[in-house]
Amino acid sequence: MFRQFKINPKDFNGPVLVTGAGGCIGSWALTLLSDAGIPVAAMDLTEDKRRPKLLMADSELAQVPWFTGDIADTAAVNEAVEKSGAKAIIHLAALQVPFCKADPIAGAKVNVVGTINIFEAARKFGIKRIAYASSIAAHGVFDPKTMATLYGAYKFANEQTSRVYAQDWKISSVGLRPGVVYGIGRDQGMTSKTTVAILAAAAGKPYTIPFRGPVSWLHAGEVASAFIQAVARDRSGAEVFDINGVASTVEQSVDLIRKISPEAKIDISGDALPFPMALSDQPVRAFLGDYGSITIEEGIRQTHDMFTTLLSKGLISADNLA
Ligand SMILES: NC(=O)c1ccc[n+]([C@@H]2O[C@H](COP(=O)([O-])OP(=O)(O)OC[C@H]3O[C@@H](n4cnc5c(N)ncnc54)[C@H](O)[C@@H]3O)[C@@H](O)[C@H]2O)c1
Repeated sequence: MFRQFKINPKDFNGPVLVTGAGGCIGSWALTLLSDAGIPVAAMDLTEDKRRPKLLMADSELAQVPWFTGDIADTAAVNEAVEKSGAKAIIHLAALQVPFCKADPIAGAKVNVVGTINIFEAARKFGIKRIAYASSIAAHGVFDPKTMATLYGAYKFANEQTSRVYAQDWKISSVGLRPGVVYGIGRDQGMTSKTTVAILAAAAGKPYTIPFRGPVSWLHAGEVASAFIQAVARDRSGAEVFDINGVASTVEQSVDLIRKISPEAKIDISGDALPFPMALSDQPVRAFLGDYGSITIEEGIRQTHDMFTTLLSKGLISADNLA
């Protein structure tokens, strides 16, 4: 279905366990792995499969073993890794910026302890391939122009953790710091509003994006494909890369949405996002090789068209857009 993302099943030596599989990027990772015929297992806090269902047929999703458990619970993580027979882990389970702010202790448990559980499971079960999600918010730790957040602090802790596991126990990993991810399934977090604007346009509803200025457009399928590429072979060390997608502005992107949906009633308010929005993808592409790409025009059009279909089938709602 998503042929621009090239994934070679021959590169894989067993099941890939995706944590946070019920989330936006996780749903795309499940879909791309399943489409490529690679065995995949899911772990998430609940059985809520509404995001993967936006991309996958029920019959396809039924083939994916689903482990329900808290990523902060060491025994639950060990069980998912052992029972899935995982040879690789794509670790995405996390609480985003507003949720970490609302409950810092829960944020630390999920984002910090959860990641330690993944690295410990890798030691215990000999997993040689780990990719995990950091974030551009990690720049807040060392770049005074980037807003400091607890979320960013926790993500930076993940990066430091990965370095120590590589140094002390030869557990290798690749960390990716996504910019603003958009696409089907992106419905929560402070930067989800560009996707909400596309949904509003597809539903013919008015919507105001609460930030302006520079913004990155990183397609959820593109970043999922990069995570998959990161575990397509054994790695050494603990590399960390920014992954930005297309650098644009909210203003230019609203113009693009209006080209696709001339009746769209999208406004802009507020200040610029306090994160870097034009980071280079050259280092991550040089390291991973080709994981596919999608232009902003194509990506917005595809997202708009998919939302239109999902709305018409009643699989998604545009009531209460926030
Ligand atoms: N979406 C973005 O723009 C963006 C940008 C930078 C980094 N990231 C990171 O990428 C990863 C995936 O992002 P996303 O947009 O798919 O997020 P999302 O919020 O859509 O999904 C996160 C998933 O993690 C699960 N989860 C939360 N707490 C859990 C717990 N205790 N145990 C098990 N699962 C739990 C949630 O149920 C959810 O399905 C996250 O680590 C996120 O921090 C995302």
